[in-house]
Amino acid sequence: MRVDIKRLQREIDELAAISEAPAPVVTRVLFSEADLRARKYIAGICRQLSLTTRTDAVGNVFARWRGANERLPAVGTGSHIDAIPNAGRYDGVVGVLGALEAFRVLKESGYEPKRSLELIIFTAEEPTRFGIGCLGSRLLSGALPLAKAAALRDRDGHDLHYWRRRAGLARQSLASVKLPKSCYSAFVELHIEQGPLLEKNGLPIGVVEKIAAPSTLQLELTGVGGHACAVLMPERRDASLAAAEIALAVEYAAKHSGSPDTVGTTGVFRIEPGAVNSVPCHAWLEIDVRDTLLRTRDGTLKKIETAIRQICSRRKIKYELRKLNADAPAICDWRLVETVEAVTRERKLRPVRMISRAYHDSLFMAQLCPTTMIFIPCRGGVSHRPDEYSSPAQIKAGVEVLAGTLGRLAGT
Ligand code: GLV
Ligand code: MN
Ligand code: MN
Repeated sequence: MRVDIKRLQREIDELAAISEAPAPVVTRVLFSEADLRARKYIAGICRQLSLTTRTDAVGNVFARWRGANERLPAVGTGSHIDAIPNAGRYDGVVGVLGALEAFRVLKESGYEPKRSLELIIFTAEEPTRFGIGCLGSRLLSGALPLAKAAALRDRDGHDLHYWRRRAGLARQSLASVKLPKSCYSAFVELHIEQGPLLEKNGLPIGVVEKIAAPSTLQLELTGVGGHACAVLMPERRDASLAAAEIALAVEYAAKHSGSPDTVGTTGVFRIEPGAVNSVPCHAWLEIDVRDTLLRTRDGTLKKIETAIRQICSRRKIKYELRKLNADAPAICDWRLVETVEAVTRERKLRPVRMISRAYHDSLFMAQLCPTTMIFIPCRGGVSHRPDEYSSPAQIKAGVEVLAGTLGRLAGT
């Protein structure tokens, strides 16, 4: 089995060039023109590999290499190709193009799968358009009620149906996206670590045992605007100052949760009208809170909600708070973890078990079938930045372990 890393790196670089922003930045927001072009690029490779593809009603793409016994549940792999604003070229992409390279080397080696192998390219793992991450895999697993999906709105007020129609997906009903539990016998996602541990310890492969519990809050604050010269300080009901205090309260709650794994981020902070001589009357915040433990994650959310109530009451600010998601952590399947470890050792590499602090579509695939992830190092642990980097050798090792794992799982 020989991974052609030059071929794979070329594809990674070609995909990176399909971006809403100039290189080295990669930005591909769900159903943007760049996202649609990137999907076409992947479809071309699927055609070269003679995979049978279908796209579901939310845009998840399934590319199947038919096994000898099609009645058996398939072995799934995959990740995402959407990218947050100002991202790099490896997040998600390594798990999609890497899986296609794994299929290719298995084919080139003459391997014939007993079970079908299926690549899934998930829609909107990133939360950029609708505020909620893993949109495609949430719907696949049934974790997102359809009414909640239909109510999602982007910044411009467009809903999911609007974007599905533009992408030519609206003829199928959203209800058809959910998959039965019998679809897959296993799911394995290859991904960059998005943390520093593998690099720091000089280890090539992490095998994921648990995926941390993510949650997202959206907060709209309404104060009273006015001329910066005319509204005297005691009369102010400044939405941006309430927002600033809330962002600090998020930091405080995450730092004092009692768990070193709690992280809280106010990653979206917008104010209106945005004029230097005008008191801000509106603010929008999006807040991300995660932990490996549900108890401390939920405790932190409660403290943040209390802080929002108190700050807004003291500052006479109206608010609307929406909890978009508050997911449980995923526990990976120990048998699959052991299989990946065995394949890694066969290749004379040392695997290490890890927790994924980032979320991934595997968080929701784990609700459908035994799931794990293969992590490879990334430089400095950097991700969600244009300078995100994994070396060709690191990617090659990950793809070889993925190919070996898929080969084993689809052979029985
Ligand atoms: C995924 O991109 C995450 O935010 O964990
Ligand atoms: Mn990401
Ligand atoms: Mn990712």
